Amino acid sequence: MSISNLKNTSLLKTKSYINGQWLDADSGQTFDVIDPANGEVIASVADLGVGETHRAIQAAEKAMQPWKKLTAKERSNILRKWYDLIMLNQDDLAIIMTAEQGKVLAESKGEVGYGASFVEWFAEEAKRVYGDVIPSTTIDRRSIAIKQAIGVVAAVTPWNFPNAMITRKAAPALAVGCAIVLKPASETPLSALALAELADQAGIPAGLFNVVVGTNAVDIGKELTSNPLVKKFTFTGSTPIGKLLIQQCSNTVKRTSMELGGNAPVIVFADADLDKAVSGALIAKFRNAGQTCICANRIIVEDSIYDEFIEKFTAQVKQFTLGNGFDENTTIGPLITSKATKNIQALVNDAKEKGAKVLTGGNIDTLGDNFYQPTVIVNLNNEMRIAREEIFGPVATIFKFSTEQEAITMANDTEFGLASYIFTKDMSRVWRVSEAVEYGMVGVNEVAISSEIIPFGGIKESGQGREGSKYGLDDYLEIKYICLGDI
Ligand code: SIN
Repeated sequence: MSISNLKNTSLLKTKSYINGQWLDADSGQTFDVIDPANGEVIASVADLGVGETHRAIQAAEKAMQPWKKLTAKERSNILRKWYDLIMLNQDDLAIIMTAEQGKVLAESKGEVGYGASFVEWFAEEAKRVYGDVIPSTTIDRRSIAIKQAIGVVAAVTPWNFPNAMITRKAAPALAVGCAIVLKPASETPLSALALAELADQAGIPAGLFNVVVGTNAVDIGKELTSNPLVKKFTFTGSTPIGKLLIQQCSNTVKRTSMELGGNAPVIVFADADLDKAVSGALIAKFRNAGQTCICANRIIVEDSIYDEFIEKFTAQVKQFTLGNGFDENTTIGPLITSKATKNIQALVNDAKEKGAKVLTGGNIDTLGDNFYQPTVIVNLNNEMRIAREEIFGPVATIFKFSTEQEAITMANDTEFGLASYIFTKDMSRVWRVSEAVEYGMVGVNEVAISSEIIPFGGIKESGQGREGSKYGLDDYLEIKYICLGDI
């Protein structure tokens, strides 16, 4: 299996999609999209810049004027067609994703379904954007609050989920009447362009969904964050870049929502179902080869079950098969680049130098520079970089605690606050610990916490705003107060 197995070859686009047109770069420049599993060039893609981004924003502003005046149901009907086409092309979209991102094909297929679910959900949910009639303070007045589309949305999305992180932003924006200009990661532009092709086929009017692909992320980012026509900026990516983008947005006081880095703890109490905790921690750690913001970064286990947990967990990790995401036996694919594997090696080496012990893995694999061995590390402490930084790879770190309070303190000892997980059967503890951990999301005896119906997002330096759920519309809406006098 490879990109040559695509049934619908119209999905493989190499130009950007602006104002309903497929465009080359003004400069004529292109860049290569590389398969991380074997280093082969999948496609040569137009490398756009600031001028094209500027024009996309202008087109978006124009296109959203009639779009926002449609009824929510009219917009919903068009978005529903987009959803249907994404699902119809699920297998092909998964092939494109595995080719450019590396994840195991079954995971890519899962992500396409996950991504489509946001389109379906928000097409429905936007029909329920209610305002309020506020009881008046004087008899001759009526006070009303209505919600309106915020305006042109700019989005920058990451390579780890090349489909779902786009639809999670584009669907609510379009559903409430906004237009969007998207800059996908230059490692994985093909999934974004395939979504644009399907948006076109679904009849989403020109100028509403624009995809600007380019390697000059700094300058394109500056245009997206400084152009006064953009009213809202949304980003999924690292915390340092997120902070910079928030600063850039402050000059024109744009609304921002940020889904940034994480340092998720998995706390396993002695009263947990141990086998479920082991399999949960494995999924939380190794999904997408450890390249998700909500991946388990620290597994924190109560001392009385620590040895047994490690034994069972490590035995399972040794069963993983590293390889090309297209191979049926592969359970863990390559990382996105060799820079990623080198960063992880530096974290592992730092831990080893400070006394950590590697139980399995611990090296870049002989399969190639982008493959990192599934790894388990113990004997850790908080002085090690690996305990404080987002690992973003298939390396599990296992810590020990002896009291509930110690586990909570360890879990909260980070500037991040995205996802956390708890394994216990004690219901009082479930409440106590869920309320005490400083995270936007808590999975209790469950790690598959993501879906279109839940408010995904973090606190502290993991971000602001929520994506998915009924709350996911709020970031794309302004509240307008209307005072009716002389009644
Ligand atoms: C992310 O890692 O940014 C998203 C993960 C998810 O949606 O489950």
